[in-house]
Amino acid sequence: MAEQVALSRTQVYGILREELYQGDDFHQPETHIFIIMGASGDLAKKKIYPTIWWLFRDGLLPGATFIVGFARSRLSVADIRKQSEPFFRATPEEKLKLEEFFARNSSVAGHYDDPASYQHLNSHVNALHQGSQANHLFYLALPPTVYEVVITKNIRETCMSPMGWSRVIMEKPFGKDLQSSDRLSNHIASLFWEDQIYRIDHYLGKEMVQNLMVLRFANRIFSPIWNRDNIACVILTFKELFGTECRGSYFDEFGIIRDVMQNHLLQMLCLVAMEKPASTDSDDVQDEKVKVLKCISEVKAEDVVLGQYVGNPSGEGEATKGYLDDPTVPRGSTTATFAAVVLYVKNDRWDGVPFILHCGKALNEHKAEVRLQFRDVAGDIFHQQCKRNELVIRVQPNEAMYTKLMTKKPGMFFNPEESELDLTYGNRYKNMKLPDAYERLILDVFCGSQMHFVRSDELREAWRIFTPLLRKIEREKPKPISYIYGSRAGEESASSMKAPI
Ligand code: BG6
Repeated sequence: MAEQVALSRTQVYGILREELYQGDDFHQPETHIFIIMGASGDLAKKKIYPTIWWLFRDGLLPGATFIVGFARSRLSVADIRKQSEPFFRATPEEKLKLEEFFARNSSVAGHYDDPASYQHLNSHVNALHQGSQANHLFYLALPPTVYEVVITKNIRETCMSPMGWSRVIMEKPFGKDLQSSDRLSNHIASLFWEDQIYRIDHYLGKEMVQNLMVLRFANRIFSPIWNRDNIACVILTFKELFGTECRGSYFDEFGIIRDVMQNHLLQMLCLVAMEKPASTDSDDVQDEKVKVLKCISEVKAEDVVLGQYVGNPSGEGEATKGYLDDPTVPRGSTTATFAAVVLYVKNDRWDGVPFILHCGKALNEHKAEVRLQFRDVAGDIFHQQCKRNELVIRVQPNEAMYTKLMTKKPGMFFNPEESELDLTYGNRYKNMKLPDAYERLILDVFCGSQMHFVRSDELREAWRIFTPLLRKIEREKPKPISYIYGSRAGEESASSMKAPI
């Protein structure tokens, strides 16, 4: 048997770099300027700066890359360092590299609605690349309410790269319903081409979510059974242990359907349900996702269960507090922190198969997964001892895919028992560090791949499916079912799927 040679991290990233950039951008002398709008905010300090550091540390950023933080407050590089370095997880050996990284950083203070501030930003950027060809990447680490009008317009008018390319990365929420999302999309489309816009849904950057396409389309065994004849239902789950702690005011405006279901869970549904794309080109993949969404009708109120957590009197710390005890939540709010919804994909492959989406905060476990439950075996000869087969793709924690199947009980027996074919990544790929979703996605922006981003027509369809329900909830304010912090209660009510909203 050939001996497996372990590659060092530097070697692995060297190979990856060659594959990603295919010898193009990475080796070219072009300068890349990564501009973080909203550099003093939480997202920037906890996610964006650490991510760009990890990419820099691993040698995955192309050519000469400089990072510019734009904020309203006067923020020195030392300030940026102070606020973001605690999230870098840098080792003492990386000290020199860290200095190198911060030497690539600079900052500009300005007002988001002041055109002169953008001229100042632009001169700063020009000085960095000294008139050579440069590509500009703008990360809008700000809520769309802030960037929707003035920031995007000013970037377009003043800060686009004159010779290289310019790309804009955006974060959700992309509107609150179909109408506001359309308004935002139209505005953005009036300024940038779709291939310049990178809408992040960070679930699309997760290892096992990306794996769905490979699992489905690179294996012969699944294609004949991936349909309504064999699959009884598909369950998509997102569960968090914690409540809204400190994010109550943001969360209350959106609720769990907008926060998680309309985006993360629906994207996973698309990858499970879509047909094989013509190729792995972004447009081909996104075309198939749009087709699936178009086959889903608007959610009906009778297919929905809503819940809200209450404190656990016998719990500890935060668990004793209910959603309404969060001081940032408006009194008497009926916003749901748990939701379960059934959707149907009306096409040849899926007609009649329920796709059950459930998501919630302050539940009994931390988990995101896709579960396909197969139909019963026909012509039972084992006296009803057989359980249904299941294929589970566990997105987090502990990435895994496993199949629940019946096998002969080992030994002298001849009766079936349930067992598992188990591919748990931690066992199979020991010592492999899987990158964070943001690392993959930001790298994709450098490489110009939009496959793992959300196109405007996908977004539109996603909002179409949920908007009538969201409007109804807003109008009628139904009282959600109460469940205890840390319980499975929300899930139990979901399994009955009876309670009307
Ligand atoms: C975000 C939601 O999009 O995803 C949060 O706004 C949620 O409410 C988060 O906590 C979950 O992301 P992850 O990667 O921790 O599962």
